[in-house]
Amino acid sequence: MTIFSVQSTIFTRASVAILSSNGLNRFSFASSFSSSPLPKTKKRRFPIVSAVDIGGVTVARNDVVRDDDPTNNVPDSIFSKLGMQLHRRDKHPIGILKNAIYDYFDSNYAKQFEKFEDLSPIVTTKQNFDDVLVPADHVSRSLNDTYYVDSQTVLRCHTSAHQAELLREGHRRFLVTGDVYRRDSIDSTHYPVFHQMEGFCVFSPGDWNESGKDSTLYAAEDLKKCLEGLARHLFGGVEMRWVDTYFPFTEPSFELEIYFKEDWLEVLGCGVTEQRILKQSGLENNVAWAFGLGLERLAMVLFDIPDIRLFWSDDERFTSQFKKGELGVKFKPFSKYPPCYKDISFWISESFTENNFCEVVRGIAGDLVEEVKLIDSFTNKKGMTSHCYRIVFRSMERSLTDEEVNDLQSKVRDEVQRKLNVELR
Ligand code: DAH
Repeated sequence: MTIFSVQSTIFTRASVAILSSNGLNRFSFASSFSSSPLPKTKKRRFPIVSAVDIGGVTVARNDVVRDDDPTNNVPDSIFSKLGMQLHRRDKHPIGILKNAIYDYFDSNYAKQFEKFEDLSPIVTTKQNFDDVLVPADHVSRSLNDTYYVDSQTVLRCHTSAHQAELLREGHRRFLVTGDVYRRDSIDSTHYPVFHQMEGFCVFSPGDWNESGKDSTLYAAEDLKKCLEGLARHLFGGVEMRWVDTYFPFTEPSFELEIYFKEDWLEVLGCGVTEQRILKQSGLENNVAWAFGLGLERLAMVLFDIPDIRLFWSDDERFTSQFKKGELGVKFKPFSKYPPCYKDISFWISESFTENNFCEVVRGIAGDLVEEVKLIDSFTNKKGMTSHCYRIVFRSMERSLTDEEVNDLQSKVRDEVQRKLNVELR
């Protein structure tokens, strides 16, 4: 697995058991389902935004960050990201990349692909999971992995959430770009909000009959040809390989990896859409392919951006380096400020999860936290388990003072104890 893999494809079967980039088993069925949402905090580092505008529609904070619903686990830091739509900024690396992908589809498919980039990220659990056949017990449905507004409403965790509704509305070839939300660990390639682009293409019997191929093979070959062309359009002549995988919504399913800086990097998930999804929209005589790609990971490679937090920076030294239409201009880091390391050890309780811990740290330190790493874990004779985490504080814009970091760490210690039911050591 590459360090990027978790954020693009939590839906692979393997991700239930695999070790993530920081060596921790992120997805255990048991712990995911026993975890409860965090109690809400009163003290907040973030200015509380009372409403956001999502593509012209005003959404009030109190409808999304709710103290009155036990299922709700959306913090203010996440609410403030709704409606930011980095993918719609032509001078931002995410927007520049999106436009380059649009160019590829426009020129190779004579503008047959309709584009959607303004669909609300607040969706039903039916859209996000049921419509794309995510099993009832799949880890991605847990409160540990997904932001729930209430028991039937989530912040979409992938753009696949829109496949079924667009098919029902009669669309047959489309690209959906949007912000997606996942509770996750903290390091330079993981951020709880990132951007995906979904592609979908329906074929009719006439298309494959002429080829003499079976419909599934026809779609799979067309899909691979399309995406290999896209990878060449973005990266030039690169080495690439296909890896078989599993997604609930496709069969067969594949991941595309490209060889980059001496490593295989997974860049997208895709496959031939399950017939049940097509059937729901009256398309039982058709076949389709679909893909989902993570824009941040591609942009980090194309623009040499070393830390995913930079995408959210307003610092002119970052924003002024990118121009509309200029794909792959290499980012020149303006400075690397010194990191500050702080360790914290505690006895965990049964309901403890690393995602909950990371949410507490982010809630206090925001983008001043660069990484959270488990550096020690043991169980004593009484069966109590201790975890020691190393928190790396580092601003991308300035040097942090000792006093400031000590203050953040002391708040982390208080909050962790108060909210996570752990005993500090
Ligand atoms: N939704 C998947 C994810 O976020 C990515 C994906 C895989 C999308 C296969 C697709 C697909 O449309 O066919 O992990």
